[in-house]
Amino acid sequence: MSLYRWMRPFLFLMDAERAHQATFKFSRWLQPVAPVFVRPWFAYTDKRLQQELWGLPFANPVGLAAGMDKNAELVRFWEALGMGFVEVGSVTAHSSGGNAKPRAFRLPLDRALINRMGLNNQGAEAVAARISEHRESYHVPLGINIAKTHSPDILGDAGIDDFVRSFELLAPHADYVALNVSCPNTTEGKTFEDPEALDALLRAIFEVRQSMALDVPVLVKLSPPPTENLRAGDALDEILDVAQQHAIAGWIATNTASNRAGLQTSSQALTQIGHGGLSGQPVCARSTALIRYLYQYTKGALPIIGVGGIHSPQSAYEKILAGASLLQVYTGLIFEGPGLVKRINKSLSWFLERDGFANVQDAVGANT
Ligand SMILES: Cc1cc2nc3c(=O)[nH]c(=O)nc-3n(C[C@H](O)[C@H](O)[C@H](O)COP(=O)(O)O)c2cc1C
Repeated sequence: MSLYRWMRPFLFLMDAERAHQATFKFSRWLQPVAPVFVRPWFAYTDKRLQQELWGLPFANPVGLAAGMDKNAELVRFWEALGMGFVEVGSVTAHSSGGNAKPRAFRLPLDRALINRMGLNNQGAEAVAARISEHRESYHVPLGINIAKTHSPDILGDAGIDDFVRSFELLAPHADYVALNVSCPNTTEGKTFEDPEALDALLRAIFEVRQSMALDVPVLVKLSPPPTENLRAGDALDEILDVAQQHAIAGWIATNTASNRAGLQTSSQALTQIGHGGLSGQPVCARSTALIRYLYQYTKGALPIIGVGGIHSPQSAYEKILAGASLLQVYTGLIFEGPGLVKRINKSLSWFLERDGFANVQDAVGANT
């Protein structure tokens, strides 16, 4: 039994956000010595897991999903846990305290979380300063996820300017920039997951990227579809076409879900929790379905980062077979512990061997 299995019942006695803060405090303390005292337990190396995407070297395909380390405080710690890349954020142009607490809830029966954090973060300037101070010490690719500041007053063109401001401050420090247009926890944050609004946003982002003479890859993070049955001709196609016309570099699929169908947790408990985005096992199949759809729709032209309900090596491998080149974990780390990353990577080596793939890239999209 892993150490985390012993610790989990104590952590789960605390409110979800408090437990997050406590483990963060401990990890911050551990970070300076993590390469010596953490990495040897969690690192796993296999050449077959290595890939080069967007000109960046990924030692393995498992990375950290946005939202866990919004302010880029623990990048070296995540590296020591054996992650192949780290995505920090979402960061917004203005700092924000987020929504009122409590705003994160565990659903143990479903191995899921519901959160309405509301994009709490220290703001683009502070996060850029922190990253630029420590950038030299990072050894894995760093994605920076940006979103529109959580404020109902920042809408339309002001929302685009707000996104652009974050891009200007953060893109120079990023190996890739992820545009979070799919946060379900702000009343106004989802407006860019609409063809016209996305078109305007991407035009502005690519203009500023050009004016800065940067060629940083820009990825778009999507919401999970309402069901696993995705059909050609749905509204989603328009969004995909718009994004591809702007030469985005890849997709991240998916964010948390608004739809809560099929949960074991009682409807009374869900009513008590209130609104928020669902993550974890219940979104796994829907996220994988979108990955498969994206891969088929774009004929594998753009790398996909698969995220949503990865709690086991099998669910990770399914996303690769469906078309994901890279993977991210969040809720799985909370329920299964940090050993999940190594477990996935070790098992991926085994799955590749079993199924006769020479490397991860060979397996990407093999089941589409
Ligand atoms: C508490 C919490 C906060 C999150 N915050 C963000 C965020 O700021 N930006 C973002 O793009 N995604 C955010 N996410 C979504 C995750 O990055 C991920 O897409 C989603 O949780 C599905 O993956 P999972 O099932 O492995 O958790 C958050 C998720 C959780 C649970």
